[in-house]
Amino acid sequence: MKKEVDRLAAYRTLSDRDLIELLSCSDADTVSYLHRRAREVAFLHFGNKVYLRGLIEISNFCRNNCFYCGIRKDNSEITRYRLSHNEVLMCCREGYALGLRTFVLQGGEDPEQTASWVEAIVRDIHAEFPDCAITLSLGEKSYRSYLRLRNAGADRYLLRHETFDSGHYSYLHPPSMCIARRIECLRNLKKLGFQTGTGVMVGSPGQTLEHLVQDIRFIEELQPEMIGLGPFIPHHATPFAGETAGTIDRTLRLIAICRLMLPKALIPATTALASLPGKGRVGGILAGANVVMPNLSPPSLRKDYSLYDNKVAFGSESAQGIRDLAAELQDIGYEISMARGDHAGYEGWK
Ligand code: 5AD
Repeated sequence: MKKEVDRLAAYRTLSDRDLIELLSCSDADTVSYLHRRAREVAFLHFGNKVYLRGLIEISNFCRNNCFYCGIRKDNSEITRYRLSHNEVLMCCREGYALGLRTFVLQGGEDPEQTASWVEAIVRDIHAEFPDCAITLSLGEKSYRSYLRLRNAGADRYLLRHETFDSGHYSYLHPPSMCIARRIECLRNLKKLGFQTGTGVMVGSPGQTLEHLVQDIRFIEELQPEMIGLGPFIPHHATPFAGETAGTIDRTLRLIAICRLMLPKALIPATTALASLPGKGRVGGILAGANVVMPNLSPPSLRKDYSLYDNKVAFGSESAQGIRDLAAELQDIGYEISMARGDHAGYEGWK
């Protein structure tokens, strides 16, 4: 199937049938060729550099009840926390001292963290670190709220669509949530000039190859600046506790396909990918990913931000974590970049 890989690289698209073949083929040579072509395209645009983003998990309160997620509202096993305004700023200061120039504020849909609370923290981060990019990953909000956050200085927003198929979306989420709303949010984020990230869990319960093809088509159409792809990993205190995890193999194929379709996209080698046994993080980079997101959350709270079981944490000392990461990347010929790493063509904050 190398011909199909070449076609994907040349035309940045492929028929549904060929995508399904690529996702399912069992020929190891084809798969490693797919990875190689994807990594060559990444190299063309980013060289051997991998961008770092400091991840700050600001709250594990959530009003939603997604069947796969460990911080779902009905999970009474975890201790809930939310960082204060000052705690978030302290995390940014630590990250800045380590050289990081992007901060990602991620959290559940915490009703107490109102748009004005988030707006204030974004304003303060923007004022104290004018050379840093601010990424938010705080779920679905109204157009007005997104607008306020954009005006306060946020540059990027991550909101995975999880699955484009509405039947499958309902299989993963309670009836209070729907794919139409998720997509409306993504279009609003785009309209507001956010560098917008979307993506899916790979191997989520009920997911078929046809679903993944629909996800790829949606990504092709939306043209997100960032694409987050990680394997589904069960969490013991969720309705999907007994389900099977997604695989590294399928996740890497999807990363490579997305790299070939959207050559300039920012694609992380995700924490979920690194959490499965095997060389997920390095594998992600070698399949065309170009971003890693070290955790800057207070070490004592990281265990409570448990989206899935056995989530890896960088060393509790972030500085050591970054040195280890640099060594891991050096082994495969890559280097950390501390640049902001905006998407080409981003018009900045106005
Ligand atoms: N396994 C893998 N990824 C998960 N996420 C939530 N729960 C899980 C899980 N059990 C992902 C979702 C969400 C992101 C923040 O974490 O895709 O968008």
